Amino acid sequence: MSQGKRVGIVGAGNVGATVAYSLAMLGSAHEIILRDNKIEVARGKALDMSQAASAVRSHTVVSVAEDMSQLNNCDVVVVTAGSPRLPGMSRDDLLMINAKITKEVIEGIAKYSPNAIIIMVSNPLDAMTYVALKESGFDRSRVIGMAGILDGSRMASFIQEKLGYGGGQIRASVMGGHGDDMVPLPRYSTVAGVPLSDVLSEDEISEIVKRTRHGGAEIVAHLKTGSAYYAPAKSTSIMVEAILKDTKQIHPCAVYLDGEYGFKDVVSGVPVMLGAKGAEKIIEVTLDDKEKAMFAKSCASVQSLIDTLNKNDFFKGGN
Ligand code: 2OP
Repeated sequence: MSQGKRVGIVGAGNVGATVAYSLAMLGSAHEIILRDNKIEVARGKALDMSQAASAVRSHTVVSVAEDMSQLNNCDVVVVTAGSPRLPGMSRDDLLMINAKITKEVIEGIAKYSPNAIIIMVSNPLDAMTYVALKESGFDRSRVIGMAGILDGSRMASFIQEKLGYGGGQIRASVMGGHGDDMVPLPRYSTVAGVPLSDVLSEDEISEIVKRTRHGGAEIVAHLKTGSAYYAPAKSTSIMVEAILKDTKQIHPCAVYLDGEYGFKDVVSGVPVMLGAKGAEKIIEVTLDDKEKAMFAKSCASVQSLIDTLNKNDFFKGGN
């Protein structure tokens, strides 16, 4: 029997559940399966979301996996499991805690959904994407991290706020790792095709760049008990949709670099074409010297996390 599109979501907390809800409303998956240690909470959310899907005449059913074996034959698996950022915590503080969780989860995915495309959401995002790639043994096109869509959306919303107009017409581009060294690219950001530098001053643009880099922390400071989830979840569901529908759209995503942009054996955010096979193509954007230096700095930050994992003998066979 053909099962239709199956999307697994590991971690049914705020981000995971909101990804599931967003996808259930869109209706492109036949089944969304939630996996969470808090099984009763996951059951309640799954029922609630299936009922919401019925309300909008979406045929998506949301169910619960009692264990990883029920997360089988998924087309896409989204991994949100992990400890979230708390106030005063950097994404990197989460490194060792979330690397161990990721390792366990990935083992299960590789075993039960060996053909899936994995979308990583757990922080520190780029390092967790690297862990997922190494632990799964999947081709790099099938292990993709969510961050660039989120960071670009944040930048776009800050541009709109600063301008007071242009909502829905802003394209903001952010590359590099999902950390304090991320690389917002005003030169590749526009309002209805108009370059940012034609509508904002240099100081205003710098302010936006700075605010984008700390966009996640700004929300953590308000929420106090956790981190953002609406925009992270929506950004994730955009990636899942692009894969399920094989749209071949370009989105900034975290992928393993193997020589692109002059970097190897590191994960960073770059424009990627998403389709049924995952990250089907990496686009190489021309960067000027300043942008290249920022991108290199961001890759070095991710590399230092990978080095820490290596120093702790985290990876099985080294590779
Ligand atoms: C964010 O940027 C916590 O990384 C997450 O909101």
